[in-house]
Amino acid sequence: MKLINTFIYTILKFSPKRIVKIFSKRYVAGFSFKETLDICKNLNNEGFALTLDMLGEHTKTKQESDFITNQYKKLLITINEERINANISIKPSHIGHDLSLDFFEKNLLILIKKAQEFSNFIRIDMESSQLTDDTIYIYKKLSKEYPNFGIVLQSYLFRTYDDIKSLDKSNLNFRLCKGIYRESADIAYQNKQKINESYLAILDYAISNQIYVGIATHDEALLKESYKIIKKHSADRKNFEFQGLYGVPLQKWYKKHFENDYKVRIYVPFGINWYEYSLRRIKENPSIAKYVIKNLFKR
Ligand code: FDA
Repeated sequence: MKLINTFIYTILKFSPKRIVKIFSKRYVAGFSFKETLDICKNLNNEGFALTLDMLGEHTKTKQESDFITNQYKKLLITINEERINANISIKPSHIGHDLSLDFFEKNLLILIKKAQEFSNFIRIDMESSQLTDDTIYIYKKLSKEYPNFGIVLQSYLFRTYDDIKSLDKSNLNFRLCKGIYRESADIAYQNKQKINESYLAILDYAISNQIYVGIATHDEALLKESYKIIKKHSADRKNFEFQGLYGVPLQKWYKKHFENDYKVRIYVPFGINWYEYSLRRIKENPSIAKYVIKNLFKR
């Protein structure tokens, strides 16, 4: 099955964008925020909190990065006006990291301050390991003054357990995920079991130290173990939330989270730059073959 999935993924990767677009609809909520708005309202009505991500990364010019920053500002205003229960997630390279660290910091600060006006929250996504030092540096620098600001840590990196220990426990707010970028065996676990062991060690550290953590995974084994860690430390539900990606089926677990009165946040990506993100999600889908065939016949 794995071979068939890889085969189908490779075909899709070299197919015209209009073909990939058919399959992207499951993972991308809309191509504009207007299109996404109803989905957000419905998810809120079902009890989910959201984090909104305007798709895109690696902007190349100052004008482009400022434009994206401005779009995010407008998004914060709309979230407030439409009374959506959502914060936002931003990739450093989308608002200028590739141009310079100072430029990224300038744009990030604009957004953190705008979010603060609305009592909202900004989380910076974690990109590839080339950005990890800078992302953590900026987080350490700005989170002292701005508590409405969070980070993401990836359990596949060897360094992450030390990283979390180097962060100030008192105001740390992080999302814990496995990590999506291809990283070398010199710096990252390649084996699922090791990635999961690392995930659980970091989660145990966070929960036992009352650090706010977004438990971002669809992995049943990790979700089961997360419940055990929460129980072991009698964790206060105010100190954690579960997070999942829009379009990944996890209904059984969401139901369980709601029964336990645990907070659940859905990561909702939207926008014109849907292509790369959709390919990443399609690649992670263990039933790509089934999914592709089903969609072909649905048309
Ligand atoms: P895993 O990949 O093992 O999947 C577990 C199970 O979930 C699969 O067996 C399958 O059943 C289901 N599943 C997973 N993906 C699917 C798909 N696309 N379609 C259908 N079913 C699927 N990464 C990063 O590097 N930086 C970041 O900032 C973030 N941010 C982020 C936010 C949130 C809310 C989530 C949930 C994830 C991220 N990630 C991320 C991505 C993360 O690192 C990781 O690549 C994916 O979550 C997949 O890992 P899982 O933990 O879900 O396990």
